[in-house]
Amino acid sequence: MMNKLSTVSSPDGNLSVTFSLSDSGNPQYTVQYGQEQVIDTSGLGFEFQKLPPLKEGLQISSIERRSVDETWQPVWGEQKEVSNHYNELLVSLKETDDRERVVKLRFRVFNDGIGFRYEFPAQKSMDDSLFIMNEQTEFALTGDHTSWWIPADYDSYEYNYKQTKVSDIDASEFAGENERVDRQIDNFNAANTPITMKTEDGVYLSFHEANLTDYAGMTLGVTEDLKLVSELVPWADGTKVKTKTPFSTPWRTIQVSKSPGALAESFLLQNLNEPNKLDDTSWIEPMKYTGIWWEMHIGKSNWRLKEAAEGSFEDQGGSKHGATTENAKRYIDFNNRADIKGFLVEGWNTGWEYWGADSVGFFDFTTPYPDFDLQEVVDYAKTNNVALIGHHETSGQAAHYETRLDTAFQLYHDLGIHHVKTGYAGGIIPKGEYHHGQWMVRHYRKVVEKAAEYQIGINAHEPIKGTGLRRTYPNMMTREGVRGMEYNAWSEGMPPGHTTILPFTRVLSGPIDYTPGIFDISFDEYSDGEQVKSTLANQLALYVVLYSPMQMAADLPENYLTDDGDFHPMFQFIRDVAVDWDASHVLDAKIGDYVVTARKEKGNSTWFLGAVTDENERTVEVPLDFLDDGKTYNATIYKDGENAHWEENPTDYEINTQEVDSDTVLELWMAPGGGTAISFEAM
Ligand code: NOJ
Ligand code: CA
Repeated sequence: MMNKLSTVSSPDGNLSVTFSLSDSGNPQYTVQYGQEQVIDTSGLGFEFQKLPPLKEGLQISSIERRSVDETWQPVWGEQKEVSNHYNELLVSLKETDDRERVVKLRFRVFNDGIGFRYEFPAQKSMDDSLFIMNEQTEFALTGDHTSWWIPADYDSYEYNYKQTKVSDIDASEFAGENERVDRQIDNFNAANTPITMKTEDGVYLSFHEANLTDYAGMTLGVTEDLKLVSELVPWADGTKVKTKTPFSTPWRTIQVSKSPGALAESFLLQNLNEPNKLDDTSWIEPMKYTGIWWEMHIGKSNWRLKEAAEGSFEDQGGSKHGATTENAKRYIDFNNRADIKGFLVEGWNTGWEYWGADSVGFFDFTTPYPDFDLQEVVDYAKTNNVALIGHHETSGQAAHYETRLDTAFQLYHDLGIHHVKTGYAGGIIPKGEYHHGQWMVRHYRKVVEKAAEYQIGINAHEPIKGTGLRRTYPNMMTREGVRGMEYNAWSEGMPPGHTTILPFTRVLSGPIDYTPGIFDISFDEYSDGEQVKSTLANQLALYVVLYSPMQMAADLPENYLTDDGDFHPMFQFIRDVAVDWDASHVLDAKIGDYVVTARKEKGNSTWFLGAVTDENERTVEVPLDFLDDGKTYNATIYKDGENAHWEENPTDYEINTQEVDSDTVLELWMAPGGGTAISFEAM
């Protein structure tokens, strides 16, 4: 009989997982961090449709250990090199009864977190088709921690974060939104992941998953005794996962650290994914981009050519179609002048006029509206050194999109287009499937793989959450999956503190297409009431604070220009800021209050810094010890003017320059809802 207790520790010895079997043969684990127990005895198991549960009556048949210490280079990312350093424990379990079912538990312990997954080898006693009705992975908390969470909506992550005790996680206030066809919250006492917490002793924990492949997305329910329990997003028929052996579950991950910054600097998720599978990555290009986009959201123009016409394009008057050849050329001229590479066009293809008309399959993804000459726009972009970014809005009709994928990507490939934004704004068809269920997880993956065949990078909106897949498929570049800028255009939007929470929650799962850079903060010309709840300087800081290899300069080109037609002085930062990095550091942060982040441009000595605050003004001291020793830098500081305030005076700004080096300590004052952005050019 094997020893029933096995421990595996991180390379630095500070974090450890102990596996055990209960008296009844239930696999369990605990997690220790320094002197603190951070996860109490937590059970593991499964329920199936036709087979008895796999939970009790297991015994250990073997235990294997392994260590890995390697580095790898991402194609693009927050830093040049990533260390993948862990100790592993593989526990093989077998049922004691006649069925003798086998499951292996693989634990990997890194200095900054753990991952574990279930592996089911091929075996006779599990049917060809295996229907998982429940995964019973527990994370038993050791206290009623402060947590930052969004509801466990099966269709959407587009919420403002809440900060509450774990025992107060309750999403019933969102019950109204739940009535939308594309919104489904089954359990109000549950959260989507990543969910981040702080213990009373100041330890930060974040729960998520890595390498979500052919499985359902995991939400976490909260029990009365403060256990988080996996609740998988179901299929329309209620099944959670349809699979067969051999298969592995995604990694269940817990990031553990002493500071919020260390959470953000972790590569745990990517390390738990497979290495890059694409041989040729020369066509994958991080970039900044503009787009015919914000103008639709604020109501200056719209996606449709004509107001909803039944079955035809007859002019019914009142059309404010945004994606015209002429408007596209206007943006391309701006991009060329500003030296911004990417340009997105939404509403270029037919189908938008049928939205909401209960029709199925109304987008074919290849037919431009008659006032948009696709070839002419492509040619004009090329002569101006601008890269067109394509758009595939599916309105949630994923099954239909799959039938059109090859044709749609082929068209872009033939036109030399290497980036496509996808969208799933609406209830999923096949009807009853959820955005985060296994059907859609398969779909999103199919799109990424297909796109790679056509040398196309993806920016997915209404996506499945990131789980580190960008390591394996670096053409999976960025995604929404967040309450992003668009909400400021047509709803009460987000409170100023939103972007001080995102780096430690949503962005832990991967790059974010937040679409910053709004200069006309209250866009009064187009709407009354709505506004972005931030200052202008705060908008600039977001390019550094919120990581993405594709960053939009989201405002209208005219808002980046002065009345004289010159570039707005603050726009220089957007022109300069990089999108690909050799190094990234969160210098200081308090989740929900403020964040200060610095990043070093890839292959260059230039550093950029972004700092944002919530609704409170504050001053932070920032030692510049991240700068290269012995070098002098010219710092250009884009900051809030002394009267700046997100609500009363959002566009008051100041720009200063100063010589600095690694011994300099800067005092950054930020207005309520404000921020600071700095570029450091080595002299
Ligand atoms: C929602 C997306 O988030 C937004 O970026 C896009 O403009 C609309 N859907 C239309 O596709
Ligand atoms: Ca959206």
